[in-house]
Amino acid sequence: MEKILVNGGRPLYGCVEVSGSKNAALPIIYACVLVKDKCIIENVPNVSDIRHSFDILRGIGAKIRTLTRTSVEIDCTGVKCGTSDYNLVRKMRGSYYLLGAEFGRFGRARVAYPGGCDFGVRPIDQHIKGFEALGGRVVTDGGYIEINSDSGRAKGANIYFDVSTVGGTLNIMIAAATGDGMTVIENAAREPHIVDCANFLNTCGANISGAGSDVIKIKGVEKLHGCTYAVIPDMIEAGSYMVAAAATGGSVRINNVIPKHLEAISAKLEEAGVTVEEFDDAVHVSREGELKHTNVKTLPYPGFPTDMHPQMCALLCLAEGVSFINESIFDNRFRYIEELRRMGAKIKVDGRIVSVEGGHPLSAAPLMAVDLRGGVAVLIAALTVEGQSEISEINLIERGYDDVVGKLRGLGADIKKVYLPDPVVQKKAN
Ligand code: EPZ
Repeated sequence: MEKILVNGGRPLYGCVEVSGSKNAALPIIYACVLVKDKCIIENVPNVSDIRHSFDILRGIGAKIRTLTRTSVEIDCTGVKCGTSDYNLVRKMRGSYYLLGAEFGRFGRARVAYPGGCDFGVRPIDQHIKGFEALGGRVVTDGGYIEINSDSGRAKGANIYFDVSTVGGTLNIMIAAATGDGMTVIENAAREPHIVDCANFLNTCGANISGAGSDVIKIKGVEKLHGCTYAVIPDMIEAGSYMVAAAATGGSVRINNVIPKHLEAISAKLEEAGVTVEEFDDAVHVSREGELKHTNVKTLPYPGFPTDMHPQMCALLCLAEGVSFINESIFDNRFRYIEELRRMGAKIKVDGRIVSVEGGHPLSAAPLMAVDLRGGVAVLIAALTVEGQSEISEINLIERGYDDVVGKLRGLGADIKKVYLPDPVVQKKAN
């Protein structure tokens, strides 16, 4: 069993390079299914959700050639519909973009019901509403979601989303790109990774406007052609290193970012007493004085991202006074809190409101990653306390963070990845 060992209590200093955005690369990679040609995708993060998606696409006939550690050539000329591997698909959430891609390419789709981080109920009713508006007949049968259409092609429609959904917006945008006629998505999500996927599709010859606003217009085109496209930097990875620098009281330059994407994170860190300097493609984060308690409400972009909630909680454990985090997006992304409590954190949860009574010293402990962002929050907390913490289930962190141990070591952290036999398995073996 792989674990991360951290001897914390040392400020982080130096520079760190942010990788490409996992949540932008995923829809772009699946959208390649629309293109009967070769696409070269650059600045792809080398993380397990991405490698896993390549296996899913290879399983339906895509030819994927690794060009460098972070760039690939994807050729979907010969892909087949409805043949993706059930167990591969159900292991993650982003695989559900295969629904929009197959429906857009073939006018039908058959994909296993998605998995993903366990945040309570994660419905896909808005995706289904969108596919039905595009002329699809959607059924869930035997663990698969099937979409069929009489015309054999998605047809343009007006769609109003009841909630701001990143996945729903992306799935419908992908399906409609080669649809017949104009599709208008209203109450669309505005995240940067939606703009990135629209830009990729337009580079392939699609006709999409309004991405980044809450109204996206997609004029379906007959055919898309191959292209070369570089994925935007990962704003959540960047935010995670910003919080790590602030929490350890260090001074870190975070390179390869788009500062505009980080505005909500930077503003909240400054409220908490952290200094954030912005440059063209970098931010510099430092903290001299004490952290101040503050309040956070997670919102769709450009609000404070829900994917930064656990990391912010770890930081606010160090701020004198009581801070509140209102998690307005997911109904249950609080499992990481149990792990912070093992370190002595005084945190209460009432409905969707987390209250953090900061200023109590935390202690090193054996810890566990419970999901992707919760795992990195626990890692950040371990970096702030003297003594050795060990973190298990690190595969969950490596789903979305490229070389997190190497990057933190480069900032002076005393951290390493080790293989420790699982005590249960060991006992049985003895
Ligand atoms: C994407 O998830 C991200 N995942 C999540 O990041 C991120 O937390 C989330 O967007 C919000 O930014 C990927 O991009 C792979 P949503 P997604 O659809 O698309 C409700 C990470 O750590 N909803 O925007 O699943 C839903 O229950 C991951 O990288 C419906 O009700 O999120 C939630 O309350 C974790 N019906 C809210 O909308 C639907 O049909 C936002 O969900 C769809 C969503």
